Amino acid sequence: MSTSSRRLGIMAQRDVHRDSYIEEWPEAGLIMINSPADPVPSIDLDEHQQIIALDGRLVAEFDMMDHFIKDNGIDTSIAEEAMTIDSEAYAHMLVDINVTRQEIAGFIKGITPAKLVDIIRHLNVVEMMMALQKMRVRKTPANQAHVTNCKEHPALLAADAAEAAVRGFAEEETTVAVSRSAPFNALSILVGSQAGCGGVLTQCAVEEDMSLQLAMKGLTSYAETLSVYGTDDTFIDGDDTPWSKAFLASAYASRGVKVRFTSGTGSEALMGHAEGKSMLYLEARCLMAIRGSGSQGVQNGSISCIALPGSLPGGVKGVLAENLMAAMLDLEVASGNDAMASHSDIRKTAKLMLQMLPGTDFVTSGYSAMTRKDNLFGGGNFDVEDIDDWTVIQRDMQVDGGITPVEEGALIAARERGARAIQAVYDGLGFPPITDEEVEAAVYGHDSDDMPDRPKSEDLAAAEAFLQGPDTIIEVIQVLANRGFTEVAERLLEMQKLRIAGDHLQPSAIVTDTFEVMSAVNDPNDYTGPGTGYRLTGDRWEALKNIPGAQNPKSIIHPDELENKPCDFSVKGIALAGTDGKDVVIAVGPAFGTKITETLSGITHGEVLKRICQGIEAEGYTPRVVKIYRTSDCGAIGWHGAQLSGSGIAIGLQSKGTILITRKGLNPLNNLELFGMSPNLTETSYGMIGQNAARYAKGTPVVPVPSTIDNMARLKYIVKTTLMHRKETSCVRLDAPSREWDIHFDHEADV
Ligand code: 5AD
Ligand code: CA
Repeated sequence: MSTSSRRLGIMAQRDVHRDSYIEEWPEAGLIMINSPADPVPSIDLDEHQQIIALDGRLVAEFDMMDHFIKDNGIDTSIAEEAMTIDSEAYAHMLVDINVTRQEIAGFIKGITPAKLVDIIRHLNVVEMMMALQKMRVRKTPANQAHVTNCKEHPALLAADAAEAAVRGFAEEETTVAVSRSAPFNALSILVGSQAGCGGVLTQCAVEEDMSLQLAMKGLTSYAETLSVYGTDDTFIDGDDTPWSKAFLASAYASRGVKVRFTSGTGSEALMGHAEGKSMLYLEARCLMAIRGSGSQGVQNGSISCIALPGSLPGGVKGVLAENLMAAMLDLEVASGNDAMASHSDIRKTAKLMLQMLPGTDFVTSGYSAMTRKDNLFGGGNFDVEDIDDWTVIQRDMQVDGGITPVEEGALIAARERGARAIQAVYDGLGFPPITDEEVEAAVYGHDSDDMPDRPKSEDLAAAEAFLQGPDTIIEVIQVLANRGFTEVAERLLEMQKLRIAGDHLQPSAIVTDTFEVMSAVNDPNDYTGPGTGYRLTGDRWEALKNIPGAQNPKSIIHPDELENKPCDFSVKGIALAGTDGKDVVIAVGPAFGTKITETLSGITHGEVLKRICQGIEAEGYTPRVVKIYRTSDCGAIGWHGAQLSGSGIAIGLQSKGTILITRKGLNPLNNLELFGMSPNLTETSYGMIGQNAARYAKGTPVVPVPSTIDNMARLKYIVKTTLMHRKETSCVRLDAPSREWDIHFDHEADV
């Protein structure tokens, strides 16, 4: 972007300008909602309740998506009634706290894709968030993590999986750089996750044939690789149909693997098959097909295509609309925020709030639990380095985004358990050994740069042999049990039992660390306004509040103890009004030099006084130090000093170092010079302030003392300021007269 304005030129360098922005182009499907080609909602049934026309199309004109939706996606028993209700009335119900999610969801089963879009058309972004808060299927929100690294190092995978588990991710997925690594990557995050915390569901995102084999070996417990698209041609490009996807979903579920489909706006336009329809209309078709396939949930919110809706007007709002439509259809939602959505941190965070604040079943459908470079999903929108920002935002908002703050000791311990367990498995099953050095590197390192290289071809050969051979997770469990990894072995066994019981196949199920299933069945979202639904309180709030680095304020400033030795000036007696026209009073606060002995930025009170006195003396005037007990306010301290000053000039000095120059006759809120931000003052500044005070007394021209300006000073020091001021105020004694100090300094300093 070339600009003639320097300001605009600088603005053009900002990250937000590295993203792409386009105008709408409906014919290419580059429009979020309301394409002229989108159909008007309608349904026609024959006398046997069979659909004969849907969204303006007769059965004879149907494409395969229409057929699939007609046969599986719409509850015709309530369709006529549901379609009669005005779209705006639905929109009202969505935000009305007096209408339950069940009531709405009951009707939504009978509507068409165009009607679904027509409803959300009436909502602004905040109303969508309100609606999502109510319509989300599971009451308790959760989060999902990505765990990969570019070396596909098993010890690092296991350590990162263990860390993600103790950080509270309910699901973890890995993928591959080389597809033959799949069995070992799946195994590493499975063992690692259970070493961290029991009950975490895991998957390995690879091609479906491999994915099913991994599942049957017991190496995964969920799958969300089943993509759906809104037009036939996009499906055909992917060698699929809605029926093949439904069949595949059943194959997974029948083996005890939790299934979630993937869809999301942008895919059809990206593949050139949008048929001129809006992204949201096509997504509505996807979602109805997904529900028709019997899937309990979906990963949507554009997912890998996010930058495309992001380039359009209303695109980010539209992505929230996708999540909401899925929740309205009773589908569990893993709500995106996984693939890179922007170069701009501000823009990424703003987008995140749309899902994080209302809460979704999985706030991200893949939080990068490692560095961006190690993310084989193509980089994460949020990476491990962002975790502390995330946990602080949760604490700021009292919102549960599914990540628990954890202190270092627990993280290291979990990483070690994960890396040691996978080392034992590799050894026990005769895989290429994982050395102690590799374990150590995985426990204490940051990313694959810290990891020694593996014998890649040997690893791949062993992975292949494991996949083809008879061993399954049962042999893995035996090795761990025999080698003393009892807890991990037991948890892995629990995961296998779960697959037989199938309880985690319930809608929107996650598994707690005690292997209890939490789902839409036993933890249904019951939001009906204030005081209902999920509330971040109790133990969970305590855990999310408790970020490492939050200090006990009492440890910052001891309320009673002295941090340093007090000033060794002696008290001369009660301060009297000065008679010498050459005296300048330095009035100090009630804690000065006694209960507090240094300024906010750590300059000792002795040094501060010495510098001020030297400044005054350099002008041939006489400093008098007077301690004020009646107030801790800087203006009032200076005012009291001025009443006692022979020259009428006084300096008011609080213990935290805040200082002003004033003159008798000025009211307490007025002054000659004020230095409100003491961290911006140096020893030299205090000397110059003394000198200026004397110059005011003299009546010679005065140039105000310059001070450096640190705009972050308030941010950095506000807590300490509060605590120091509290301590000074606690020393106020309304009935105590001001006292004069005896002052003497050993040596001169340059001013
Ligand atoms: N629509 C459909 N499928 C998608 N995927 C990612 N984004 C979309 C989308 N917008 C697919 C990936 C992968 C699976 C996890 O989800 O291609 O197959
Ligand atoms: Ca995912």
